[in-house]
Amino acid sequence: MMDLLLFGIFPYVAVSLAVGVGIYRYFIDRYSWSSQSSQFLESRALFWGSVPWHYPILIILLAHFLAFLFPTGWGELLGRPLRLYLLEVTGLALAVWAFIGLVILMARRVGSRRVSAVTTVIDWLVLLILLLQVATGIYIAFTLRWGSLWYLHTATPWLWSLLTFNPQVQTMAVLPLFVKLHAVNAFLLVALFPFSRLVHVVSIPVTYLGRPLQVVIWNRQRDGR
Ligand code: HEM
Repeated sequence: MMDLLLFGIFPYVAVSLAVGVGIYRYFIDRYSWSSQSSQFLESRALFWGSVPWHYPILIILLAHFLAFLFPTGWGELLGRPLRLYLLEVTGLALAVWAFIGLVILMARRVGSRRVSAVTTVIDWLVLLILLLQVATGIYIAFTLRWGSLWYLHTATPWLWSLLTFNPQVQTMAVLPLFVKLHAVNAFLLVALFPFSRLVHVVSIPVTYLGRPLQVVIWNRQRDGR
């Protein structure tokens, strides 16, 4: 019953909240749809935390998605021991790097009085849940070898079953506690997404790429004088 609740129902609740509240917030309070940058309050620790956090975690998430979207290709890629070791070692190194970046970002929120003043309860909650996500990921990668392969026979079918609205929780139900925690915690992050600074993830300013570097808008008549 608990497994059905956690792996068959909770993911839908989380995604519905993320989409529903996310759209509502976008239209009702669009100004808040950002990371609420605190760079002008402190930028040094932000750089040393933000770079090691964002690059590794994005690569790790990409690997999670590739294994989910292309399980056959992923299985073939890791079919040779050398490639498997290389991917696992790289994943682990990136994860430790992301963990350190996140700890620096958290320390910055404690260490700088100005940044601490603009940090809310939800910010702390999200940071702690992210820390738990990365910590459990590292623990799994370290203790339950070879996760990048058994993911294909456990997480991938479960995630596809959710996507096709036919939740099959058996493959997750038999996994060790830390893997369950890692999976449920990921959907907890999805649920918190629209209530937090995480919304900036989908507000990447892609239009900036094709835009002139600077747009000057005159607010007085240009009559040649
Ligand atoms: C917010 C979403 C998620 C984040 C940020 C995240 C983060 C991480 C991190 C940092 C690692 C360690 C990387 C490594 O050593 O390769 C990891 C590993 C892992 N994650 Fe996630 N994860 C997320 C969602 C999920 C979900 C939904 C599942 C499905 C059950 C999952 C299953 C795994 C497995 C099986 C491993 C071990 C991989 C290995 O041993 O190489 N993750 N995750």
